[in-house]
Amino acid sequence: MTSRRRPVRDPTMPRDPHTSPPSPAEPLPGAHERFNELVGDLDYPMFIVTASAGGRRAGCLVGFVTQGSIDPSRFLVCISEQNHTYRVAREATALAVHFVPSSANALAELFGGRTGDELDKFAHCEWSPGPLSTPILAECGNWFVGRVLDQLRLGDHVGFLLDPVETRMSTPQSDFTFHRARRIDPGHEA
Ligand SMILES: Cc1cc2nc3c(=O)[nH]c(=O)nc-3n(C[C@H](O)[C@H](O)[C@H](O)COP(=O)(O)O)c2cc1C
Repeated sequence: MTSRRRPVRDPTMPRDPHTSPPSPAEPLPGAHERFNELVGDLDYPMFIVTASAGGRRAGCLVGFVTQGSIDPSRFLVCISEQNHTYRVAREATALAVHFVPSSANALAELFGGRTGDELDKFAHCEWSPGPLSTPILAECGNWFVGRVLDQLRLGDHVGFLLDPVETRMSTPQSDFTFHRARRIDPGHEA
């Protein structure tokens, strides 16, 4: 019987340039700009992440999120170190992740275009205390609260790895998308 298994390359031997082009050790000139252009064309739903710690509340609009595992359920939320939200979230035991409905234009502007360094966002929207002391926004019917398992330094953002402990799914809704949100001038530089 013939084996169809691919031969394992010996990493100590030089690559055969005919079969495996070398990967550049450094990004090619302009690679990051082209990458930013490519991913800037993607569209995806926006979220508002909120936290409370030490008597402080915070929250911001985020697009850098992803499910990371099915079993167990895991979710990653990436928050810029510049944001007021980061300085509260890094002390918090849990974060609330709200699915932003397409109707919530003013809420997206509030949480994406203003900073908690200058304004108490929670004085300008309806909210209530939720699981693990997280602030829950009334305008967002769909949300979950995740216990923070880990904080991962990714670059200018920190990834918060979440274990969902409570989920509310109350309204079928269409999402507030990145392509609408990108018109908002962020309250903080990334
Ligand atoms: C389209 C869009 C996407 C954003 N995505 C993120 C994100 O993934 N992570 C993040 O930390 N901030 C993101 N921001 C920026 C924050 O929402 C914004 O700077 C906010 O004003 C910070 O508020 P804070 O200083 O009160 O935390 C995004 C903003 C916009 C407009």
